[in-house]
Parts: sequence; structure tokens; C-alpha cells
Amino acid sequence: MTKMKFLFFVTVCVAATTAYRRSVCQESTTLKDREKLAVVIISGTVERIYRTGPDKTEDYSGMVDIKKVIKCKEDTIASKSVIVMGFGNKGMCNSDVKERDTRIFLLSVVNTNYFRLNSSLIRINRDNLDMVSAAVQGKRHYN
Ligand SMILES: *[C@@H]1O[C@H](CO)[C@@H](O)[C@H](O)[C@H]1NC(C)=O
Repeated sequence: MTKMKFLFFVTVCVAATTAYRRSVCQESTTLKDREKLAVVIISGTVERIYRTGPDKTEDYSGMVDIKKVIKCKEDTIASKSVIVMGFGNKGMCNSDVKERDTRIFLLSVVNTNYFRLNSSLIRINRDNLDMVSAAVQGKRHYN
């Protein structure tokens, strides 16, 4: 192998490893612990995104139309749509949404109808919904 070929090979390896690492972000806590930490858990659809600044790297908020309240603190949800802040948080594996995305949101309470994303978004499918509901009800439902 020539020196150039070797350098090229090393570069490709490093790039591939970096891309791989980025694609497998590891949650620092289990889903069960994340659910315990979240004061409010809802499933819903993002109706609108609000960005405060022009900077795409900033956290942003969104209006979420609630489909189902899975876990709730009394008197914090006063209407069918709520504002969720803290999307785009680099400290979470999965915190980005687009309009029309439907997700399960693990939230902490800011104010009535105002919440902050407490940990990564969960994609909705039958299994995930059952698992989250079961965990909130304190049943064991983990593989
Ligand atoms: C999640 O909520 C807990 C309280 O339930 C809080 O201590 C923690 O800081 C919150 N995490 C984030 C990322 O907001």
C-alpha cells in the first residue's frame, strides 16, 4: 500500500466510525427511569413550531395537539393543545420534531399548558404506547 492509499483508508475508517457513533446515541437512563422523572407524559401531534431566533442550533418550542394523556399532574393541562419547549436539545438523543410529527412526549411542568421536554421523544407504535402506559401504571412490561 502506498502512503497515499493508506492515508485515504485511515480517513475513510475514521469517518465511518464517527458516523456510526453518531447514529447510535445511547440514552443515559432506562425508559422506566425516564418515565418516573417525567411529571407529565402525553402522546400528540406537533401542530406548529416556534423558533425564537434565526439560529437553527437554538432550542425551539412547539404547539402540540394532545391525543392521549398517559401521565398527568393535576391542573397542568387545561386545554387540548399545549406548548412544549426544549426541542432541539443536544443533550438528548432524540429531541427534534417537524410539524405533523406524532410522538410520545416525556415532559416536566413549566406552567399550566407550558411544558419542557424532559427526555428523548418516543416514536409511536402499538408496542411503545403499551410499554409506556404499562410502566406508568407500575406494571412490569419490559423485555
Ligand atoms: C427532568 O425532570 C426532573 C424532575 O422531574 C428534573 O430534575 C430534570 O432536570 C429534568 N431534566 C431535563 C432535561 O429537563
